[in-house]
Order: sequence, then C-alpha cells, then structure tokens
Amino acid sequence: MLRGTMAIDARGHLVIGGCDAVKLAQDYGTPLYVLDEAALRERAREYRQAFSRYLPGSEVIYAGKALLNTAICRIMAEENLALDVVSGGELYTALVAAFPTEKIYFHGNNKSRQELAMALDHRVGRIVVDSFYELKLLQELAAARNTVANILVRITPGVEPNTHSYIQTGQFDSKFGFPLGTKDTLAAIEAADQMPNLRLWGLHCHIGSQIFGLESFVTATKVMVRFLAEIKESLGLEIMELDLGGGLGIRYHDGNEPPSLGEYAKALGEAICESCTELELPIPKIMVEPGRSIVGEAGTTLYTVGSIKDIPGVRRYVAVDGGMADNPRVTLYQAVYEACLANKAKDEPKELVTIAGKCCESGDMLIKDIMLPPAEPGDVLAVFATGAYNYSMASNYNHLPRPAMVTVYKGMSEIIVERESYVDLIRLDRVPPRLTTSTETLAGKLT
Ligand SMILES: Cc1ncc(COP(=O)(O)O)c(C=O)c1O
Repeated sequence: MLRGTMAIDARGHLVIGGCDAVKLAQDYGTPLYVLDEAALRERAREYRQAFSRYLPGSEVIYAGKALLNTAICRIMAEENLALDVVSGGELYTALVAAFPTEKIYFHGNNKSRQELAMALDHRVGRIVVDSFYELKLLQELAAARNTVANILVRITPGVEPNTHSYIQTGQFDSKFGFPLGTKDTLAAIEAADQMPNLRLWGLHCHIGSQIFGLESFVTATKVMVRFLAEIKESLGLEIMELDLGGGLGIRYHDGNEPPSLGEYAKALGEAICESCTELELPIPKIMVEPGRSIVGEAGTTLYTVGSIKDIPGVRRYVAVDGGMADNPRVTLYQAVYEACLANKAKDEPKELVTIAGKCCESGDMLIKDIMLPPAEPGDVLAVFATGAYNYSMASNYNHLPRPAMVTVYKGMSEIIVERESYVDLIRLDRVPPRLTTSTETLAGKLT
C-alpha cells in the first residue's frame, strides 16, 4: 500500500518525504494535497532512462493536464522533460514558470484563434493539429506573422484499449484527430505538407489512459508505422517524428499491476524497430506523453475525519472534509482508491467503512468499502495515488475552496499552491447596481 518515500514511524504515523503526515495536516489544514517530490523526480528520471535505453533520441513529454502549476513546471524542466499543454491557461502557466518554449507541445481538439496565436507568438516547439479547421486557421495565423508553425498531426488509430470508455481516445468514433481508414486523413497530411506556413514534422496518437495491457500500445504503434509507410508510398513524404501519446496505468489499489517503465519502453522500442525494418522505413524520433504515470502515485490527499454515521446492518459512513470537489474521479469514473488513517497507520484495520465526502450529492463517496482501524472524529485520512487528475479536475462545487498543495522532500515541506479562501470564491463576482444594497452590507460585515 505504501509508495514512494512513504514510511510509518514509531508512533504509527504515516511519513511522506520525511514529513509526518499528521503534522502536515495540523500545519497546513485539510484537505491537503501532498506531493512526494523525490518520488516524482525519480519517476521522471526512470522514464527518461527507460526510453533512452530502448529508443535512443526519444523524448519524454510530461502531460500537464494530469497536474500543472508553476512549481511542477520547474521540476519537469529540471528533470529535462518536455511539456504537453492543452490550453492557453496551461501554456500561460508554463510560460510564467519559464519552461523552455521549444520543448512545449500544444494539444487540444478545439484550440481557439487566441490560443493558437499565443502558441505561435511564444514559438512553442510543436502544435499538434487536430482538424482541417485548425490546419487552415493555423496557416492563416502563421502567414499573418510571417512565421512557420511546426506541427504534428493527430491521428486516431482505431485502437480501443481496455479502460473506462470516458478515457478511451484512440477509437474510430472519437472527437480527437483524424481517423485512420478514411481518405480524409491522408488528405490532411497532404494539405499540411502543402501549406506554406506549416512545417509537418510528424504524427501523434493517444489511445487512452490508465491502460495496463502493453498490447494496445504495441498495436497502436504498428498501426501508426504502417500509416507512415502509406504516407511515404502515396505522397512521397518521409515523416520524422512519431508521438505515441501517454496512457500507462498506475497502481491505485491492490490488483492494479502496471508494467514497469522498462517493459513499456522495451515493448514500444521493439514494435517500432520491427515495423520500420519490415516496411523499410527509417526509425523516426519517438515521443511519449505520460501524465498519470509520472505524477499519480507521488500524490496523497490528507483529510480530517468528521461525522461518523452507522446504519445498522448496512454500513458505516466515515465523512471527511473534502470529496468530489477535490477528487471527482470516483464519481466520474468509479475510480477505486486505497487509504489509511495517517495517525493510526500501525493499528489493525478491523472495520469495514465507506468514506463519504461532504458535497451535497449522494454519489459523493471517496472510497466505497475499505478496512480501516476504528475511525474517530479528528483522525487524518490519507488517500493514496491522488497526484493525477485530482487538483487539475477539482472544482469549487458547494463553494468549497480548493485545497493547498505542498511538496515534501527530505523532511521539508513547502507550499506550491496556496489554499483558496472564501474571498477567492467571490473574487470574480459582480453585483449589478440594482442589487447592491444588501450584498454590499453583507460583504462589509464579513471583511
Ligand atoms: C493527448 C494526450 N496525451 C497525453 C495524455 C496523458 O495521459 P496519461 O495521464 O494517461 O498518461 C492525455 C490524457 O488524456 C492526452 O489526451
């Protein structure tokens, strides 16, 4: 159950990055996202090592949608990873963090004119084009700037990995990219190649997320290489780069058995080499875009236990001070998490309970059935593997301020995202003059 640098100290407290989780909860309040920086950096390094071993010259691109803030950008830059952004907001975050722009890949199935202009003005490394509409728009914007946009074209390879349907993205019927098997897709490549202000470097695909079976990745890789051969044969074009997306699964709970990064890199490396040899193609530069499998297991969320409700013969609900607002994955994808009581980490888990969130939805559960030591109000619950798609998908539902995030590293903790305040919640509210009196009075009283 423990991961990264986690340990249990003599008092039975959970320790992460050398910091007592119970003390973190006291010092920073809860809910609190805790990021194990050593584990995060180690994972980034493992990725680079595995891919440079099996695919020399390849590039590992951290998918910022999993978790992005300025400190994360700095860590990824220090670890020599490239960065995938999917919006003007993510790009802005990377720019503020002085992330090297030539190592930024800009994704998205409906980038706006402003977002594309921003990407061009800041000379991002690659723009991953998703549609004919975007090809034309980008050509127009690049021409107006008298510049060249360096692009990849996103392809949906028609591969359906075994994962939740909401996070499958490579199937034929998808909102993303150009589907293989239609003549439009080859036409898109031809158009991209012919547009004077676009430079087509390569292709991109991403088949989905939280995938354990390497065979889906291998199939997608082979399909993509076959398409490279078709492009060469039909258009005489040699494509230099192939971005195979992210999607490797992580261990959320017992029974999740993701392949090692070595196995993953080896499988992709072999698939590329075999297919390119068979089809007499040069080996392109390979990129991968992991998000979850870099940051997921490095994150833990700490909560404080409040109300405990028994329904005799049915279940015991242990309610915590967060829920679907800070971790929507359970309600969205029926995600399953493991947890422990950070202040009773050595105690025997002998009660079957359900961890409930505090939002006004019956579906707001964090963990359906989990064995824990007897819980009491004030205990600190640590939910594991919450680094990916938790903060980045968090909301202010029920006007809950978003929690703070701290890094823990060698016994030191540092805030990397402040906790939102009630003032933050109404910072953007505006009251039309016809409604002012009561609201002004109220706000005046509270400040
Ligand atoms: C285009 C693209 N690349 C990379 C990723 C990262 O996926 P994961 O976090 O599963 O590695 C995603 C996730 O949705 C994606 O859409």
